[in-house]
Amino acid sequence: MLTRPLPELPPIYFYDDRGSELFEAITRLEAYYPTRTELGILERSAAALVAEARPRRVVELGSGAGRKIRLLLDAWRAQPPLGGPRTCTMLDVNDLFLQQSVRSLAADYPEIEVDGVLGDFTTDLARLGPGGDRLTVFFAGTVGNLYPDERRAFFRAIAQGMEASDTLLLGVDLVKDVARLEAAYDDPEGVTAEFNRNALRVVNARFGADFAPDAFDHVAFFDRDHAWIELRLRASRAMRVRIPAIELDLDLAAGAEIRTEVSCKFTRASVEAAALEAGLGVDGWFTDPEQLFALALIRRRAA
Ligand code: SAH
Ligand code: AVI
Repeated sequence: MLTRPLPELPPIYFYDDRGSELFEAITRLEAYYPTRTELGILERSAAALVAEARPRRVVELGSGAGRKIRLLLDAWRAQPPLGGPRTCTMLDVNDLFLQQSVRSLAADYPEIEVDGVLGDFTTDLARLGPGGDRLTVFFAGTVGNLYPDERRAFFRAIAQGMEASDTLLLGVDLVKDVARLEAAYDDPEGVTAEFNRNALRVVNARFGADFAPDAFDHVAFFDRDHAWIELRLRASRAMRVRIPAIELDLDLAAGAEIRTEVSCKFTRASVEAAALEAGLGVDGWFTDPEQLFALALIRRRAA
């Protein structure tokens, strides 16, 4: 990926412990509206959502600090039980955040069996076991961090593991005013820039590379054709980077860019189209008054 004309890093590299902390700091930024907007939608709609889904089991993908799921669990435990144990499984690549969130949810929701799966939601969905009365939640708009081909594969894998009684609750950031979108990924505090550069620190640690993160400038722009925000790192000077683990010497000219992330923005129609391609349908659409963000409730379409 680093040898492509536009070198690319997969965004999974953002989330070492420092990257996960930096993402948490991003969620508290004034300019970064998605987290508080999604929390607001959950505050208003969690009861209706769990009443619709009627799960026995909840699974969260890319659960991170595990704050949003609490709003669903609060609404869930307020509803009459369906019988049998209630379980909640969190899946994330970051072990520290996973263990912390599992521990604190287990302490605060003693009537729910909470466990964690350290894994990758692009390859490890089968580890979550068979479906049936299962509500899978994927918050934050993280589905937008997948490239279109990865997203198609993700929806297919989700659909494959889904029974008629299962639901997917998908958080998506919506297409909106470009200035507002770009500001959310280029905050004046420079937290997103640090989050972006952290991907290089992770590559250094994992692959013995010698990227100098401070020699890269943060770039964030909205690509209208793809309807995504793209994050790049731009070399401020010419440099040679050694990546011994893959026996690569990467020569970067001054101004050369590395793509580190895309963050797709959706409309109701584009979510419906993505779902439909996998044999799924959007049954519910929960949004905020400004239509900044939405939670789509998705099911298998009746055959
Ligand atoms: N759900 C939280 C965190 C979102 S940030 C929220 O709504 O605020 C994205 C989360 O997905 C991070 O915790 C990161 O560690 C995790 N993540 C990113 N790529 C992943 C992958 N391929 N598989 C599993 N988890 C992943
Ligand atoms: C996790 N994900 C939904 C974030 C997003 O908005 O795409 C990651 C992020 N990148 C920069 N800021 C936040």
